[in-house]
Amino acid sequence: MFVPNKSVNWILIAGIVGVVAIASFWLFKCKFCRGPKIERTLAIIKPDAVAAGNSGKIIDKIEQSGFKIVGMKKIDLTKEKAEVFYAVHKEKPFFNDLVQFMISGSVVVLILEKESAIQAWRDLMGATDPQKADNESLRKTFGTDLTKNAVHGSDSEESAKIEITKMFPDLMQ
Ligand code: CMP
Repeated sequence: MFVPNKSVNWILIAGIVGVVAIASFWLFKCKFCRGPKIERTLAIIKPDAVAAGNSGKIIDKIEQSGFKIVGMKKIDLTKEKAEVFYAVHKEKPFFNDLVQFMISGSVVVLILEKESAIQAWRDLMGATDPQKADNESLRKTFGTDLTKNAVHGSDSEESAKIEITKMFPDLMQ
């Protein structure tokens, strides 16, 4: 609001510019100067790895890689739960085989926490196809093929939230 007195106008303008500058600084700081981002991701040790007695070795790798295990349980998925969990792949030709495989034996589901946990867990897992995965990765070490690939991990922050809620409905994130 401008008043007839010119010096008051300048004080008002300087005040507005100052407030905008401080707000911009804090917005910028929030976006670019934040500390490391601690994330949570959902991990599954699949039926092939559990049946082969490899879950202990995989959990050991998880801990050695600096993940905090926030939740963990061994469960038998129902067909309905596996279908809902992998609903994004419903139209894919491998969907039925994937669901059948996921209910073929027990799985271990985990919530992992770490800085940039989603990408870090994906890196530790390796490529979806064990044949193409890096030598040190879990899928290269414990997986067999595209279906029996030992482990699963969320692929984004959004899917991590959805998947954690599906597997641990009783836990608040
Ligand atoms: P996962 O990380 O659990 O996410 C979806 C799963 O679908 C994937 O691991 C594989 O096990 C499986 N999958 C992905 N692509 C294929 C494919 N081309 N053929 C068979 N299974 C696949």
